[in-house]
Amino acid sequence: MSLYKYVYWFKRTKPSSYKPVILITGCSSGIGFELAKTFSNIPNYRTVITARAPSVEKLHSLFPSADNIRVWELDITSEISRNQLVEKIRKEWEGVDILINNAGISYRSVIEHMTDKDELAQMTTNYLGPMALIRNVLPNMRRKGRGKIINVSSVSGMLAMPTMSSYSASKAALEGASEALWYEMRPFGIDVSLIQPGFIHSDSFKNVRYTERGEKSENNEDEYSAFYRNMKPFVSRLMGMSRTPASKIAELILLVVQTERPPLWVPAGFGAEFFYYLRRLMPRRLLHPVLYRCLPGVEHWGEGFSKKRSR
Ligand SMILES: NC(=O)c1ccc[n+]([C@@H]2O[C@H](COP(=O)([O-])OP(=O)(O)OC[C@H]3O[C@@H](n4cnc5c(N)ncnc54)[C@H](OP(=O)(O)O)[C@@H]3O)[C@@H](O)[C@H]2O)c1
Repeated sequence: MSLYKYVYWFKRTKPSSYKPVILITGCSSGIGFELAKTFSNIPNYRTVITARAPSVEKLHSLFPSADNIRVWELDITSEISRNQLVEKIRKEWEGVDILINNAGISYRSVIEHMTDKDELAQMTTNYLGPMALIRNVLPNMRRKGRGKIINVSSVSGMLAMPTMSSYSASKAALEGASEALWYEMRPFGIDVSLIQPGFIHSDSFKNVRYTERGEKSENNEDEYSAFYRNMKPFVSRLMGMSRTPASKIAELILLVVQTERPPLWVPAGFGAEFFYYLRRLMPRRLLHPVLYRCLPGVEHWGEGFSKKRSR
């Protein structure tokens, strides 16, 4: 994170007379919760903290209604929920100035074990929903000639790992669309940024989704069992070893919000910067064979289930 500050020249926004309206998605836990804490403590912003129905009550008690705080319901996958929320904000505070698309889910499954329904759930939450919300808030920002779209992506959007195909695809889609949007919004004075965290020191792995076939495979003995049994503790270990808590990502996002013309790509945390430069500097022919060898127990994956790998 520190390197980021040196690489980019941050220009803080001068204090202005208006209080920007910030909409944050997925505030019930992790980065979203830290964002809610950060922004609700700054009276210069009017913050809309959102979560799905079961978490709204808990958030109401943690963030009691004040002049600059609203806690409202949003399911990013529901068109009705998105439209109702944006309309409510328009009536109350004349629309959204800064959108932070943070809500996300993560499937942990090999491609063969994903169903169409699983793929759609992953893409709707991490890509289709956020894009629809962006379309909802852009007209207001365009008219005003200012605004910020901040999409929380992931290092997985630039570098995929086994058992994380669908998650990587959803973040890669978010990255591609955000890059195009950066150009499209430049003439209207709207900034677009992608926050790219690596592994975060958090309990978020508890929210990971497994498919029916994936769970069976992990508990039995089949062609993919070793993939799950090795990747699951490996990813948990990487998250446990990470020195970047969710609060650091929230601080970085605050910096992006406070910056005039922030950059499009914002790697967040040491892991993110490491993979960012690895991907760019290592010769392509070497990158994947080297990373493959780093996977835990990979020499035994699929053993006994293919002519290629007999026991
Ligand atoms: N943790 C990491 O290591 C890591 C690394 C890179 C990127 N990221 C990205 O950072 C963002 C936040 O992740 P996190 O680590 O803070 O995970 P988290 O603790 O699991 O938080 C995810 C949030 O998204 C919400 N959410 C899920 N589905 C939703 C829906 N349909 N509508 C509205 N909200 C929904 C969850 O709410 P519910 O309680 O209602 O489910 C939760 O508040 C995600 O986009 C994730 O992909 C995380």
